Amino acid sequence: MAVTILAIESSCDDTSVAIIRDGYVLSNLIANQDIHMSYGGVVPELASRAHQANIVPVTHQALVKAGVNAEEIDAVAFTRGPGLLGSLLVGTSFAKGFALAQNIPLIEVNHLQAHVLAHFILEKDKNNRLPSFPFLCLLVSGGHTRIIIMKSQLELKVIGNTIDDAAGEAFDKCGKVMGFTYPAGPLIDKLASEGNINAFRFSKPHVKGLDFSFSGLKTSFLYFLRDRLKEDPDFIEHNKADLCASLQHTIVSILIGKVVNASLQTGIREIGIAGGVSANSGLRNEMKREAEKRNWNLFIPEFRYTTDNAAMIGITGYYKYLRGEFSGHDVTPLARY
Ligand code: KG4
Ligand code: ZN
Repeated sequence: MAVTILAIESSCDDTSVAIIRDGYVLSNLIANQDIHMSYGGVVPELASRAHQANIVPVTHQALVKAGVNAEEIDAVAFTRGPGLLGSLLVGTSFAKGFALAQNIPLIEVNHLQAHVLAHFILEKDKNNRLPSFPFLCLLVSGGHTRIIIMKSQLELKVIGNTIDDAAGEAFDKCGKVMGFTYPAGPLIDKLASEGNINAFRFSKPHVKGLDFSFSGLKTSFLYFLRDRLKEDPDFIEHNKADLCASLQHTIVSILIGKVVNASLQTGIREIGIAGGVSANSGLRNEMKREAEKRNWNLFIPEFRYTTDNAAMIGITGYYKYLRGEFSGHDVTPLARY
């Protein structure tokens, strides 16, 4: 019999609801919260309020778009963490209410695990190429930068982590210094395509093993701009594209250097990227180049499954459903998972 999952994602500033049937996406809707743009970052209090306003209509639309009735849902999967506690509380409470009303199981999902499992989302009428195991995945988002080995859909091992900022934070914080609104990653990506990657050099960290560090880059970028602005107050405006291209190139080469080492150390050549920063075209292109050179079997998710979305929560929920991994109604969200 078909298994239909209702999935809720509310860990940060996007309210997303998806319907997944036997691993296939029937609908995946996202309500973005533009309200945070003018604040230079997500305001937790405003995010929770917006989730509260959005969650019922978005769920309704997701069901309508999927052509599924509430009675046909077999389980509710929701993001338990990590994320903003107030935002997670809204999704968790709504998931509990829905599960109780329909008398169906509740499935908690780790948001980071879900980003990696986005590679297993199936779409109708697509060729749906799936990674085999062991699978090595670079997870790069606004809050996390990790190298993960996946032994099966539900067995993940972290072999590299950031010791300070995440790659997405490096994009966002450097973007803020240039006067860009939050999140700056997509704009830096766009401007970088018109700039010269070798125009400026920024220091790369020396962190041992497979760990990352991005706080030094942020500081060196800030000091570099401070010095140049003394000579030319319009330095940023005059060099926007080159600044973005050079910065993006530095971040991408830090990331790729570690993935190459991880692949050489583990012997794994089944490789993927996931998380919001995996939407970055510089990272995608460099990964493709490296894959060709090193004979990797490369997996890059569709754009809509890179940034936060409920389809990835749903696919994780589906595999947990098959294993009977359900949560009690006393489950509480975890800001750190
Ligand atoms: O995974 P995600 O949607 O949310 C978290 O779980 O953090 O990632 C958001 C991050 C932000 O830092 C944003 O600037 C970055 O992903 N991002 C990008 C691009 N699109 C989103 N960074 C660089 N280039 C992009 N095209
Ligand atoms: Zn995320």
